[in-house]
Amino acid sequence: MNSWAKDIARILIPHEELQRRVAELAAQISADYAERNPLLVCVLKGGFIFLADLTRALTVPHCVDFMAISSYGNATRSTGVVRILKDLDCDIVGRHVLIVEDIIDTGRTIAYLLENLRVRQPASLRVCTLLSKPARREIELHIDYVGFEIPNEFVIGYGLDYAENYRNLPFIGVLKPEVYQRGLQQASGAKASQG
Ligand code: PRP
Repeated sequence: MNSWAKDIARILIPHEELQRRVAELAAQISADYAERNPLLVCVLKGGFIFLADLTRALTVPHCVDFMAISSYGNATRSTGVVRILKDLDCDIVGRHVLIVEDIIDTGRTIAYLLENLRVRQPASLRVCTLLSKPARREIELHIDYVGFEIPNEFVIGYGLDYAENYRNLPFIGVLKPEVYQRGLQQASGAKASQG
């Protein structure tokens, strides 16, 4: 048995389905951004595996850049207060920018990023997320590209973590509640919500 298998309640999205959907998104984005040389902005850390697969599936020339942010959450929910740990290397004035996220949960992180990047005057600014949890949304948002809408369960794998673990799993899985409940008991103040 794999070492992670005891922590996973079930596989929500298998690897093959992820690959198929990423290829569909890449085809749509390639069509929409023909001749636009978009800049894909990956939000670390969770977005790194999705970005790696998406960038290789795109058929249009494009650039990638990275932002790292930290949200100050409490044990049960994200506060929406965001701090930039690593900013973009490039100037985005006049660029077609596509933000690449692993998951949009409350929507607070992406709302902050949209506001932060919009003032830098890109030619356009859109959002692509692999996963969306509409049931958790606290801010109304338009998301341009969504891989999968998922139920309100704690998911890990394909870039998503719990306490920095499980990001390498090739599928999206549901974490057993006892795993994060145990973690919370050990470290009160740990982040139990996604995002
Ligand atoms: C996750 C995810 C988004 C955010 C979404 O990042 O990558 O950035 O939470 O949550 P929201 O919609 O409620 O704001 P996280 O803070 O877990 O960091 P990580 O990507 O480094 O794992």
